Amino acid sequence: MTDFATLKVWRGSSPDSGHLEIFVVPFEPGQSVLDGLRWIRAAKDPTLAIRFSCINANACKECMIEVDGKTVYACTTRLIPGEMTLKPLPNKRARSRPGHGDRPARGTVWRVRRARKS
Ligand code: FES
Repeated sequence: MTDFATLKVWRGSSPDSGHLEIFVVPFEPGQSVLDGLRWIRAAKDPTLAIRFSCINANACKECMIEVDGKTVYACTTRLIPGEMTLKPLPNKRARSRPGHGDRPARGTVWRVRRARKS
């Protein structure tokens, strides 16, 4: 039997305007909150923009978010087979998507990670 985590993710252009959107994510022990957010992007909603760089190495310090009211790193905070509320930090502003001028990513205040030039 598969367990699930229920992630209530803040979507909006500012802390004052937006809503919590609920995603049910497959849970496996040892997964991080960042793993859950990346699963949402890959499987459910590619418009969810999240900021991270090193993926679970806790080296880049880019993935700081608010989980159930506490400021944490998404990559080191364990996902739980229950409900968690995820919000961007209040001092983080929405950033525009590359190639879309000043328009923020749809329905999100998570910052968009810039693509690296290769
Ligand atoms: S993803 Fe780099 S510190 Fe969390």
